[in-house]
Amino acid sequence: MKNLPPDPSRRTLFKAIGALTAAGASNGLLTACSRSKDVEQAGLTFAEIPHRLDDNHHLPDGYRADILLRWGDPLHAGDSPFDPANLDAHSQARRFGYNNDFIAFMPLDDNAGPGENARHLASDNSVRGLLCVNHEYTQPHLMFPGYDDGYKATRGVSAEHVAIEQAACGHAITEIEKTSTGWQPVLDSPYNRRITLSTAMGIVGPAAGDRRLQTSADPTGKTVLGTVGNCAGGKTPWGTVLIAEEGFGGAFQGDPDNIADPVEALNHHVFDISPANRNWGDHDPRFDIGQELHEPNRFGWMVEYDPYDPQSQPRKLTSLGRFEHEGFTLVCKPGQPVVAYGGDDDEHQFVYRYVSRDRYEPGKDSHNRALLVEGTLFAGQFNEDGSGRWLPLVFGQGPLKPENGFHNQADVLIDARRAAALLGATPMDRPEDVETNPVNDCTYVMLTKNKRRAVANAANPRPKNATGHVLEIVPPGIDGARDHVSDQFRWNTFLLGGNPNAEDPGERGAYGQQLPGTISPHGWFANPDNVAFDLGGNMWIATDGCESFGFHDGLWAMATEGELRAAPRHFFGCPRGAEVCGPEFTPDGTTLFVAVQHPADGGRSTFDKPMHRWPDNDPALPPRPSVLAIYRPDGKRVGS
Ligand code: FEO
Ligand code: CA
Ligand code: CA
Ligand code: CA
Repeated sequence: MKNLPPDPSRRTLFKAIGALTAAGASNGLLTACSRSKDVEQAGLTFAEIPHRLDDNHHLPDGYRADILLRWGDPLHAGDSPFDPANLDAHSQARRFGYNNDFIAFMPLDDNAGPGENARHLASDNSVRGLLCVNHEYTQPHLMFPGYDDGYKATRGVSAEHVAIEQAACGHAITEIEKTSTGWQPVLDSPYNRRITLSTAMGIVGPAAGDRRLQTSADPTGKTVLGTVGNCAGGKTPWGTVLIAEEGFGGAFQGDPDNIADPVEALNHHVFDISPANRNWGDHDPRFDIGQELHEPNRFGWMVEYDPYDPQSQPRKLTSLGRFEHEGFTLVCKPGQPVVAYGGDDDEHQFVYRYVSRDRYEPGKDSHNRALLVEGTLFAGQFNEDGSGRWLPLVFGQGPLKPENGFHNQADVLIDARRAAALLGATPMDRPEDVETNPVNDCTYVMLTKNKRRAVANAANPRPKNATGHVLEIVPPGIDGARDHVSDQFRWNTFLLGGNPNAEDPGERGAYGQQLPGTISPHGWFANPDNVAFDLGGNMWIATDGCESFGFHDGLWAMATEGELRAAPRHFFGCPRGAEVCGPEFTPDGTTLFVAVQHPADGGRSTFDKPMHRWPDNDPALPPRPSVLAIYRPDGKRVGS
C-alpha cells in the first residue's frame, strides 16, 4: 500500500503541540482552555445513535466496522483458526489475548525495515501499521467450559487453565493493513508478537535492583517475567509504546496479615492481595506472597517497549512510580523536558505528572530513550479556588524521610501512594485516562466514579459519585505555549457525567453550556474511562459503566471549545456486558480503532451459557473480546 500524504496540520500529538497557535488565556469556568473565537473546532456532524442495550454493536449511518482481531485469533500464518476445545498455553501465546484494552496504532513506512523507527514514525501511513493492544485480564468462567458464574469462578481450577490465562494476558503487536475489502491482520509479518506473563523484561530507573525488588529467581532485582493488568497506555515520539500495569494485585494470592515484615504487609494490603484472589499461586509459586514476598513489588509499573524491533526486550520504568497505573501519556516539545500525565485508578487515589531530567531532542532516539528513566514524579493537588500544584515525590524532601518509613528513592516509588498521600495530594474519584488535547494544549482527566466518597471537595464535587466526571488541567501560558513543566496550574470541571435531568443531584449530569438543542436525550453518559482526541481537537470518551443506567457503554464525542464545548454526541455502542476501550485514530483520522472488552460479562453468564456470543454469534464459539476498525466507506474522517 502507498503511504498517504503527510497531514501538516497534525502528525502526532507530540509534533503538533510544538506548532500550536493562538490559544486564549483563562477567562472563566466554561471557556478557560478555549482558543480565540476565530479558530473553529472541526465540526462533529455524524448522525447520533440512540442509547440502547442489546447484543450487538452500533454505529452511525454511513460508517462501517470491521471485526479486526478477536480473542484466540492466530497472529502467525499457518496457525489454525481459534478452537476453544483445543486451546493450550503454547497456542494461546501465539494468538490474540483476552480482554483487549489500550490500542496504539504505529504506522509502518513501506520502504523501511524493522528497527527503523524514525522512518516509520515519519510515514503517516494510515493504511498499514502495527496495532499494539493491551490484554488486561482473564475471565475463566467465560473462557473455559465447566465453570460456575460468580466471583469464585475467577479461580482457575487447573494448572493448564492458569497457564492459558497467563498466556492470554499482556500485549499483542499485529501488523494490519487496509485493503479494498477492509482492515485485516497481516499474518506473515515479522513484527507480529505476543508479550505475556512469560516475557523477560528489564527493570530500570531509581528502584531497579533495590532489595525490595529482589526474589529467589532474580537476586539482582533487575529482571522480571512478564506484565499483567495491562489497562491503558501511551506512545512516545521515539517509537516506543507504554503499557500500564493496573490491577496487578488480583494476580497474587496470600494473606498480608501473615507476613512478618510490616512494610510489605501494608504494601500488599494496599493493592488488595488476599486469600480470596484468583489462585494462580497454587500452580505458580511466584504469585503466592507466602512464597515470594517481593514478587508483587515487580508489578504496578509502566512498561516501555519498541514495537518496531520484534527482538527488543520490554522494560519496567520505576521512575513513573508504582500504583494501579491506568496509563501515561506524553507531552513532548522540542528542547524541553518530556512531561507525562497518568492516573492511579482506585478510589481516593491520585493524578500524577512526570517531568524528565533531560530535554526532548526530536530525532535523537538513543538520547530520548533515557527520558523516562531519569526524572521526577509529582502528585496533583487540586485546590478549592481552582488552582493546583504538582507535589514532587523526592526522597528526603518534606515528609518523605526515614521517620515515615522512606529510606531511599526506591521506597518512595514503590510506595508512591503512601508518599503522595503524605505530601497532601488530592484524593480523586478513580483517575482513569489522562491525556493532553494537541489542539488547545490542555490536559483532561477522566474520573470514572467513586461511590465510597463521603466528603466532596472542589475537584470531586459529588459524594457517592456514581456517574464520574472530567477535569480540565490548564497549565500556565497563552497562545498555545502552555508550560506543562510548571508546578502550578489552573483546573476546571469540564463535565459531570450522568443524566442532566436526573432527580438525584448526586447523579445529575452537567455538560458545557447546555444550550437548547445542543445535547440530545442520547448525548449523556456515565463513567468516563478512556479518551482520545481527533485531528480537530474533539474529545472522544469511552465509557465503563453505563449499563447501570440502562444503556450500553460506548463512545461519545464532543468539542472542547466554543458553544458546543462539552456537549457530547453518541457515536458508538457496544454489546451487553462489555465496556469500550481504545480508542485510537490513524494519523489521518479516517479510521478509529475501538476495543470491546469483556462482552457478555455479568449476571449468570458463563462459557457454557453465555448471555450472547458476540461477535461471531456462532453456537460453537463463546463471546470474544475484539478490536473493531471503524471508518467511512467514502474515506472521509471519522466524526465529520
Ligand atoms: Fe482498567 Fe482503569 O480501567
Ligand atoms: Ca480503563
Ligand atoms: Ca487515551
Ligand atoms: Ca474502568
